[in-house]
Amino acid sequence: MKHCISLKDFTPEETQTIVRTALSMKQAPERYRGLLAGRWLLMLFQKTSTRTRISFEIGFQELGGHSIMMDWDTSNFAISPIRFEVRYASGHVDLIMARLKRHADILELAAHSLVPVINGCDDRYHPCQALADLLTIYEAAGSFAGQTLTYVGIHNNVANSLALGCAHCGVHLILVTPEINRPAFDGETIDRLEREGALERTLDLSDAVGRSQFVYTDTWMDMEFFSDVSYEQEKERRSKKMLPYQLNAASLAHSDAHIMHDMPIHPGYEIEAGLVDHPRSLIYRQAENRLYAQQALMLHLLDIDVS
Ligand code: CP
Repeated sequence: MKHCISLKDFTPEETQTIVRTALSMKQAPERYRGLLAGRWLLMLFQKTSTRTRISFEIGFQELGGHSIMMDWDTSNFAISPIRFEVRYASGHVDLIMARLKRHADILELAAHSLVPVINGCDDRYHPCQALADLLTIYEAAGSFAGQTLTYVGIHNNVANSLALGCAHCGVHLILVTPEINRPAFDGETIDRLEREGALERTLDLSDAVGRSQFVYTDTWMDMEFFSDVSYEQEKERRSKKMLPYQLNAASLAHSDAHIMHDMPIHPGYEIEAGLVDHPRSLIYRQAENRLYAQQALMLHLLDIDVS
């Protein structure tokens, strides 16, 4: 049985197959209807979501399956060890997608589940987002060959997942990350990929943007802290430090790169509001592609033949 906790669970060939299948599902959805008939998906959320919730629910049902939405705090996952709850729940469903706060908890969930588990974003990885981002790059460029992506912002779970996904697909990654979220940082993977030449690190945003076909940013504050009043001081410190690294008209002045952001948007922080609907923005397409990337991922984990 295979899980998707991070893209380390896949070979480069598997990651590329999922992306290509996702594009095929987007282009000819009627070919895939009914492949999940009679199957059940449990969606477990410990954190807020818009895209993950909508795209998994619609994505699974479009393929003929049924889904159950469960909020962590109103379930008994909140008051009992994960291993007992998931052992029971996984006996009733075919697949679990969980958005949990702590990476250790999704590992425990997967270790005791009877069915494949998908990480819907924890503090270390966001593999579903990276798959949708790779699909978006592949769709826009027509190929992965020769593509360079700059990620500018805080080094977080999305940065870790992009690093793994880009390496699997041969997309060169430039990280412009003056601040690191710990414990999110997967230093072992980042150092290895840097040694192998799959990625580079710099603080020269202008140079990085000038060498990239795609420029990507993400929130400076993790979602669970964004509206937390006790985090106000840290939010102010980060904003001051990160403002020179904001994606805006000035930082993209000499670039014709596509603009990427995984949403939700925090206008005036990591990105200037006007860039969201910019002619070169792929932001809504990235969000739309979550559905197809996850449909292909689910079929892969359930070992369903899509040929
Ligand atoms: N990008 C992303 O995961 O969106 P949500 O947090 O809204 O699910």
